[in-house]
Amino acid sequence: MRIALSLLSVPVYVTWAAPSRIQVPFSSFAADNDEISQFLSGLDPYPNKPRITFKNDGTFKITVFSDLHFGENPWDDWGPVQDANSLKLMRTVLPSERPDYVVINGDLITGENTFRENSTSLIDEIMGPINEAKIPFSSTQGNHDNQANITHLEEIQRELRVAPMSYTRTAPKGVGGAGGEGNYWVPVSL
Ligand SMILES: *[C@@H]1O[C@H](CO)[C@@H](O)[C@H](O)[C@H]1NC(C)=O
Ligand SMILES: *[C@@H]1O[C@H](CO)[C@@H](O)[C@H](O)[C@H]1NC(C)=O
Repeated sequence: MRIALSLLSVPVYVTWAAPSRIQVPFSSFAADNDEISQFLSGLDPYPNKPRITFKNDGTFKITVFSDLHFGENPWDDWGPVQDANSLKLMRTVLPSERPDYVVINGDLITGENTFRENSTSLIDEIMGPINEAKIPFSSTQGNHDNQANITHLEEIQRELRVAPMSYTRTAPKGVGGAGGEGNYWVPVSL
């Protein structure tokens, strides 16, 4: 049986970084609907990647980093210091929590502050701690990730280039409207 982790891009209008921790007990996901679980078990959007699975004790731990807002105020110290602090926090949380999966929730980048020539390099920075921890993960993008000098699609393409453990993928064209590329689901096997 498999459950689907649905990842939807939703606009969020906060400007602070809030790491959160959710431990999901197996029972809260037990699907009553055989038809749905049978349908899902026949689908594998990641034929070339290892399956994401629950642990033997029936748990599946997800760590969520939300609203990282990298690249804010690059013209002074405040923004770059926040970014350095966020990376330090990720490098502390990931080895100590050792989650089964990580979700990087939008907004990854403060798009209205970034420069065309280097906005996707912020993605490389964010991926650093995850690449080191080697934990499978997904990202979803928010309203600040779709601005004059950055788009959801550019962020996703860059992430797929630099982060081997990424399970992020793009929605079929047109799904989710403008900037809807970050809508997809990830199967998690029991
Ligand atoms: C976009 O990038 C260009 C070139 O780096 C910069 O001059 C411009 O101010 C940026 N625009 C916005 C809205 O950040
Ligand atoms: C991006 O480019 C701008 C303007 O050239 C610069 O001020 C800023 O420090 C750069 N940011 C990064 C993350 O490289």
